Amino acid sequence: MGSLRKERPLRQLFYVLRRSPQRGIMEHQYFIKGGNPLVGSVEIGGAKNSALGILAAAIMCDETVTIRNLPDVNDINVFINAIKSIGAQIVYPNPNDRHIVMINGRGIRNLEVDNEYIRQIRASYYLIGALLGKYKEAAVALPGGCNIGARPIDQHQKGFKALGADIKIDKGMIYARADKLVGKTIYLDVVSVGATINIMLAASMAEGKTIIENAAKEPHVVDVAQFLNQMGADIRGAGTGRIRINGVKKFKAADHEIIPDQIEAGTFMCAAAATMGDVTITHVIPQHLEAITAKLLDMGAQIEETDDAIRVVVPKRLGSTTIKTMPHPGFPTDMQSQFVVCLALASGNSLVTEKIFESRFQYTGELVKMGANITVEGTTAFIQGVDKLTGAIVKAPDLRAGAALVIAGLSAEGCTCVEDIKYIKRGYENFAEKLRSLGGIIEEREIASHEDQEHEMRRLELVG
Ligand code: UD1
Repeated sequence: MGSLRKERPLRQLFYVLRRSPQRGIMEHQYFIKGGNPLVGSVEIGGAKNSALGILAAAIMCDETVTIRNLPDVNDINVFINAIKSIGAQIVYPNPNDRHIVMINGRGIRNLEVDNEYIRQIRASYYLIGALLGKYKEAAVALPGGCNIGARPIDQHQKGFKALGADIKIDKGMIYARADKLVGKTIYLDVVSVGATINIMLAASMAEGKTIIENAAKEPHVVDVAQFLNQMGADIRGAGTGRIRINGVKKFKAADHEIIPDQIEAGTFMCAAAATMGDVTITHVIPQHLEAITAKLLDMGAQIEETDDAIRVVVPKRLGSTTIKTMPHPGFPTDMQSQFVVCLALASGNSLVTEKIFESRFQYTGELVKMGANITVEGTTAFIQGVDKLTGAIVKAPDLRAGAALVIAGLSAEGCTCVEDIKYIKRGYENFAEKLRSLGGIIEEREIASHEDQEHEMRRLELVG
C-alpha cells in the first residue's frame, strides 16, 4: 500500500505531461460559446495585403511618406520591424496609435533582410522588388506564410530576370543583383498578386517601359500602384490584366490611406450569415465585395449596400450554392473557408472548388469534429448541410481557416476552443473584441495544459 501511495503523484505528473501538448508552454486560445446571432455594427480596418506592398514601396523613397489606416496586426508589425532593422526610419506620429506611420528610406544601409520573424511572413518577398528597384541589390530570407500549398515564387524571379537581375537562391535566402534594370514586357504564366506587385515595385525604378501582361487585378494591386504613383511613379492600367510602368529615378514624399480590408469585411459578413444575425459592416468599399455579396445573396441572405457600408441580414436558414475560387474579380480564395462554414449549416448540398491553393481544405477535418458533413476529393469539397454544429476543441491551421473556425464556434451549440490563434492574429485586428461588440461570446485565454483548457470550457458553458 505504502509504495502505491508513493507512486500516485508521479503517475499523476506523467499523466499531466502526457496530456499537455504544450508541456508548460503558454499558448493563447479562443474560448467561444456559440448560439448567439451576431447583431450590430462593426468597423473594418485597413487591408493587410495592401499594407504589406505599400510598406515595401515606402522604403524606396528618401523623403518621408505617411501611411494611414494601417492595420495593427502581427504580419504588419513584423514587416515594420524588418524594414527598421535595415535602416528605414519609422515614426508613429501618435505613439499610442499604430494606424498611422511615417517612413523614410534614406537611412537604409543594409540590403540583407533576415530574421526568424521575417521568415514567417509571406510578403517578405516584396522587399526583394523594393530593394532591387532602388539599390539594384537585395538579399531576403525566403518567404514563409500560411501553409496552404506549395506557393512557388518562380513568376517573381522570372520578372526580375526579365528586367536584367541575376537571381540566386542559397540556404533559404534569395539574392538579387543587377548592374541596371531595364524595362521589358513580362507575361505572367499564372495570375499572381505577389509577382504583379513585386515586379511593379522593381520596374517603377527601372530604365524605360515595363509591361506586365496577365497581371493580377486585386484591389490591393491597385492600392499599391496608387501609392507608388503618389510618390511619383508612372504606372497605368493597375486593376486590368495589362499594367504599364515607365521607370523613374526617384520618389518624393506622399500621404496615403490604405483601402479597407475586403477579407476582414467578408469574414464579418460570413460571421453574420452563419449565426443568422444582422450586422452592418462599415468603412468598406462595397464594389470590392461584389463576389462575396453575390454568393451570400444566392444563398438567401438579405444585403443592403450604402456608399461605404454593407448590412447582412439572415432571418432564415441559408440555402446551398456552388463556389469556385478565382483571381479577382472572381471569388477570393481567402474567403473559401468562411463560406464553407456557412454552407456546412445551410440546407442542401454544396460544392466548393479551390483553384488557387491546393492544400486549402485542411481545416475541414476540424469542422467534421464539430459535426459538419464534408468530404474532400482533391481540390473539391462536397458539403451536405447539417442542422447544427456542436462545440469542440479545434486547431487553426492557417489565418483564414482559423477565422472560419471561430465563426463555426460562434454558430455551434456549446463551447468551442480554437487553438493556435497566433495564425488569426497575423491578419485580424481585435478580432475577439469586434465579435464581442456584436454579441458573440468569445474570450482569449493563456493556456498551459489540457486541465486549464477543460476548466475554461466548463466555465464558459455556465455563461449566458
Ligand atoms: C496573395 C495574398 C493571399 C491570397 C493570394 C491569392 C498577400 C500577402 N497574400 O498571396 O492572402 O490568398 O494572394 O489571392 O497578399 N504562383 C506561382 N508562381 C509564383 C507565384 C504564384 O505558381 O511565382 C501561384 C500560386 O501557387 C497560386 C497562384 O499563383 O496558385 C496565386 O498566388 P499569388 O496570387 O501569388 O498569391 P500570393 O501573392 O502569395
